[in-house]
Amino acid sequence: MSTEKLIRKFDKQAKIYEMRRRKQSEKKWREKLIRCAKGRVLEVGVGAGANFHFYPKDVEVTAVDFSKEMMSRAKEAAAESGIQAEFTLSDVESLSFPDDLFDTIVSTLTFCGYEDPHRVLSNIQKWCKPGGQILLMEHGISSYRFVGRIQKMVDPLFKKMVGCHLKRDILQILKNTNLNIKKVERHMLGAVYLVWAAPNK
Ligand SMILES: C[S@@+](CC[C@H](N)C(=O)[O-])C[C@H]1O[C@@H](n2cnc3c(N)ncnc32)[C@H](O)[C@@H]1O
Repeated sequence: MSTEKLIRKFDKQAKIYEMRRRKQSEKKWREKLIRCAKGRVLEVGVGAGANFHFYPKDVEVTAVDFSKEMMSRAKEAAAESGIQAEFTLSDVESLSFPDDLFDTIVSTLTFCGYEDPHRVLSNIQKWCKPGGQILLMEHGISSYRFVGRIQKMVDPLFKKMVGCHLKRDILQILKNTNLNIKKVERHMLGAVYLVWAAPNK
């Protein structure tokens, strides 16, 4: 699928993500993860800004997304939550930052969508300061074989309709990228991964 088509797909979903933000969907997981953010934060694929409510008040966030519709909602969310944030409309896969720039890098529900998740994660590792942290909440292949089989079956349709994969093995992607994994929690039949990691440098 072309990037333009993918952006249009996410633009169309922005209202749904705004509604999910207002309902505080995934609250218990976001709360647990996002409250660990510190200092200068990069959030990739910020969407409609569902995490802003959960950040400690003293962080400074650089938020990236390639969907204008998502980003305008994320700006409202940052203002409502009183979080200092700047926004970059860009494809995360072609983004560049100096090495060792951020104390914390956050991604929630974005690794299902990237063309090359390994490259994005390698870049994230470069942009994160030594001793910094990488906080992820991702969905991927379930730890239950039967559920995983269904996910694999519906994956092509899901990608076409929603723009993201259901069957990615998030832990394997992390291992391939040689991150220093501090803690992993699996929820919802093992299909939701909460990860606390650090760059290996
Ligand atoms: C499933 S939504 C998750 C949004 C938000 N992180 C959350 O937790 O609700 C994925 C978001 O990532 C963005 N996204 C996906 N691929 C991207 C890319 N290559 N570059 C920039 N943004 C991307 C989409 O526009 C969308 O806002």
